[in-house]
Amino acid sequence: MRDETYDLSWDDWDELQSPRPEGTEFDDVVETALSRRGFMGGVLAFGSGAAVMGAGSLMSTTSAEAATSRFAFTPIDIATDATVHVPEGYSWSRLISWGDPLFSDAPEFDHATGGDVASSDRVFGENTDGMELFNVGGRQVIAVNHEYVNTKINLPNNEDGKVASADDVLKLQNLHAVTVMEVTEGADGWSVVIDSDLNRRITANTPMTIAGPAAGHDLLKTEADPEGTTVLGTMNNCGAGKTPWGTYLTCEENFNGYFGSTDAAFELPEDYARYGVSAEGRYNYEGYDPRFDVSKNPNEPRRFGYIVEIDPSDPTSTPIKHTALGRFKHENAAAVVAADGRVVVYMGDDERGEFMYKYVSNGVYTPGGETSSLLDDGVLYVAKFDPDGSGKWIVLTPTTTGMSEAEIAIFSRVAGSKVGATTMDRPEWVAVNPVAVEGYCCLTNNKNRGLKTNAGGDETPAVGPNPREANKYGQIVRWKPAGDDHTADDFEWDLYVMAGNPNVHSDANAGSANINAGNLFNSPDGMMFDSTGLLWIQTDGDYKNEGDFAGMGNNQMLAGDPVTGVIERFMTGPYGSEVTGLTWSSDKRTMFVGIQHPAAPFPDGEGKLARSSIIAIKRDDNAMVG
Ligand code: FEO
Ligand code: CA
Ligand code: CA
Ligand code: CA
Repeated sequence: MRDETYDLSWDDWDELQSPRPEGTEFDDVVETALSRRGFMGGVLAFGSGAAVMGAGSLMSTTSAEAATSRFAFTPIDIATDATVHVPEGYSWSRLISWGDPLFSDAPEFDHATGGDVASSDRVFGENTDGMELFNVGGRQVIAVNHEYVNTKINLPNNEDGKVASADDVLKLQNLHAVTVMEVTEGADGWSVVIDSDLNRRITANTPMTIAGPAAGHDLLKTEADPEGTTVLGTMNNCGAGKTPWGTYLTCEENFNGYFGSTDAAFELPEDYARYGVSAEGRYNYEGYDPRFDVSKNPNEPRRFGYIVEIDPSDPTSTPIKHTALGRFKHENAAAVVAADGRVVVYMGDDERGEFMYKYVSNGVYTPGGETSSLLDDGVLYVAKFDPDGSGKWIVLTPTTTGMSEAEIAIFSRVAGSKVGATTMDRPEWVAVNPVAVEGYCCLTNNKNRGLKTNAGGDETPAVGPNPREANKYGQIVRWKPAGDDHTADDFEWDLYVMAGNPNVHSDANAGSANINAGNLFNSPDGMMFDSTGLLWIQTDGDYKNEGDFAGMGNNQMLAGDPVTGVIERFMTGPYGSEVTGLTWSSDKRTMFVGIQHPAAPFPDGEGKLARSSIIAIKRDDNAMVG
C-alpha cells in the first residue's frame, strides 16, 4: 500500500495485470498446521538454549533471559511521524539521498524538477535497497541497488507522473540499477567521496555479459545481440549479496513490469504468463524505447530476472549475469562457503506462491584462487518443506525436470513446479547465520495463501512453513542443513517468528509467543546477520497503524536473537517508508540503513520532494554496532 502520491506496490500491480485463479482443492487445514509442533512457541526445536514450545512459554524465557540480553540498546516505541528514531545513546545522520551528485559535473539536487535527464546517470539513483560495503585497498566502497522509481516524484512536472518523452524514459532508466561509491568518515560524519575513481553508476543501459547455461541460447538472442551473450542493463534490483571473493551480487526482481507491446495484435509467448510479462508496461517504456516493446523484441524479457555480479574494485569491469542461479523474481543472494569449499547461494523468489532456491557450485573456493566459474558451473535446487519439520532441496536437472540445462536456467519457476516445490508466502531476504550452520528467510505476507494458486497453477495450501490462510503479517522460516553442511539435500525447519497482533487477535493471527505488545511489526522483508550472529529484521508492510495493524506504526528495523527468540525494536522509519538495505562500516562502528520511498517529506522537510536515502547510525560512545 502506498499513499496517493505513489504508484502501486509491485505485488499489487502484478496482481492487477494477471489475477491468479481461485484455488479449488484446499482443505481448511489452518488449525491443524498451527497446533503442530507448537508453532505458537516461536522457537524451533533445534535452537540451542530455549527450545520452548507452547503459547506463552517464551514470555517467561524472555524475562529470564533479560539479565543476559545480547542487545546493547534499549528498545524503542513505535512511531507514526515523519522522521527516523533510534534508541537512546545512538544517533543517525544522512549519508546520501536520491539525486545527490556522485561526480562534480552533476548539479545539486533540484526539488523543482527532480533532476534533469543529462545528469541522471551521474547522481545517486532512486529507491535505495540492498547494499554491501567493500574494503578496497583500505578504502570503503558501498555498492547499493536502486530498485524502482516513484514516477509522481521523479517526474514531478508530468501529469500524474506519466512518461511523455524518450528523455523521461531515459531518466527513469538511469535512476534504476546500481551505485558504487566510496564513502569516508570525517569530523562531520560520513560522506560520499565525490569524483572518487571508484564511483560508478550502472543503469538499465550498461553493457553486461550473459554467462552460464543460458548464455547463447536461441531464447536469449535479439537483433541487437545475435549471439545471445551481451545484454544492456539490469533492472528492479532488489536485495543484494556478497561473494567470498569480494564482489557484489545484485538481484533482478520485478523485471516483468518494464515490458509492454505497442501492437495490440501481438500474441504474447506462452512463457510470459508465469513471469507476469504483459502487453501493458508499467511505465510505458515500450512507447519510447523499442527494446522494451515485446512485439519487436520478444526475447528481451528473457534476458532479465537474473543475479548480476559486479566488481566494486574495478569501475571498468563488465557486470556478469549468472544464469546458473536461475531466472525468477530474485530478492537477494545469501552466499556461504560450505565445509568442503563449495559455494552455496540461497535465494528467494518474491511472488505469492513462488519458491526458495539453492545453488551449489561444482568447484571449490580457495582464497586467492580462480573464482570465475564458481557461479556458472553448478547445480540449482528448489526447496520442499514437509509438514513434519523436515525438508529437502530437490535438484533441478534434465532428469528431474525433463528440461534442458538452459531451459532450467531461463524458466526456473517451471522447473520448480515440475518437481513439486513448496509454494511459499513471498520469499524475501535470505540470511545465513555466521556463527551457526542455519539459514533464515523472510516470508513477508501472502493474501492469496489458501485462496488462489500461483501463476503456474500450483496449489497454495495453508500448511507447513506457510500456515495461515490469507497471511497478512508474515513469518520467518529457518532451516538447519543435515550434518551442518550447507550442500546437504536434507534439512530440518521451523518458524523463528510468526508476526501478528495479539492486541487484536487471539487465534494464529496473534503471532508466535515471541511477539508481544512491545515489538509488534508486520511484513518482515530485509534481513541481515551482523558479525556477532544477531539477526536484523527490516519491514515493508502496512504502516497505517490501525485495525489489524494497530500498534505497529511506521516500518521499522528490529534485532532478533536466534538463540532465545527474543526480538526488540531498534529503529523506526519515516511515515510511508520501507526500511530496506543494511551494511556496516569496516570497523563495525557504523551501520548504514536504507530508507525507501518515504511518503513523509523526508529528509528535507515540508514542501520538498520525499527522497529515498541511506542513513548512518552510530553509538554516541562510538562502540561497535555489529
Ligand atoms: Fe523488492 Fe521483494 O522486495
Ligand atoms: Ca524486499
Ligand atoms: Ca516487500
Ligand atoms: Ca521495496
